[in-house]
Amino acid sequence: MKIIGSINEKGGVGKTTIIVNVCGDLASRGYKVALVDAEPQESATQIAQSEKLNYKVLAWGERDYENVEVLQEVKRSIKALEKDFDFVGIDTEPGFHGSAVLAAALSDLTIIPIGASSLDVWATTRTIDFIHSAQEDQGGNPLVLIVPNRIQPNTIMSRDLLSMLPEYGKVSEPVYLRVELAEAATAGQWVGDYAPKGKGKEEINKVTDSILGEISND
Ligand SMILES: Nc1ncnc2c1ncn2[C@@H]1O[C@H](COP(=O)(O)OP(=O)(O)OP(=O)(O)O)[C@@H](O)[C@H]1O
Ligand SMILES: [Mg+2]
Repeated sequence: MKIIGSINEKGGVGKTTIIVNVCGDLASRGYKVALVDAEPQESATQIAQSEKLNYKVLAWGERDYENVEVLQEVKRSIKALEKDFDFVGIDTEPGFHGSAVLAAALSDLTIIPIGASSLDVWATTRTIDFIHSAQEDQGGNPLVLIVPNRIQPNTIMSRDLLSMLPEYGKVSEPVYLRVELAEAATAGQWVGDYAPKGKGKEEINKVTDSILGEISND
């Protein structure tokens, strides 16, 4: 089992959107997938409510992740998923506390969805440092994938920012501003089921390909 966290210091950058859709994509490829919804607003749980998502969402957003004992217990519960799932996603709250600490410590690969502004790029550096320090005691070199999200096509600003990103770490193909990604959440589906012929699905497929290129499930 491999764990994929979705983390960013900033709110509203697409942490939930990207992990919900990557999990849907992995499930559509035949993997057994669960998403731990550790975001206090439980957005992923709300998306799953219509029961049209092709994988299971665990509604664990209301736990007190600041409490060390709760954190340890949740870590044990996630490890216990090993026998049932190939991939487990973790959706987190913004910032460097609570469920972000859980995901930073446990993830085999962390995705960092970011928007196309300099503020997002600076937050990326701090987010990468945070993930490194969370995994320091394991002596590992954590895998991180920056996912440019909600990019406006053909703007000079987004082109400039996209060209800068490889300095910061491994970067996936961008996910552009796509209405079907917002609509799919409302419909309670991953974008591949909601708009199978859309560009949003193609872009998510490429993000998933990059993830699978970094971690395999065996
Ligand atoms: N590529 C995209 N195209 C269109 N809309 C998007 C895209 N990515 C995200 N959105 C929309 O932007 C909003 C914020 O996205 P999302 O909730 O995934 O961010 P978040 O980082 O999880 O936020 P929070 O920090 O509050 O948990 C949502 O309304 C979502 O539908
Ligand atoms: Mg979210």
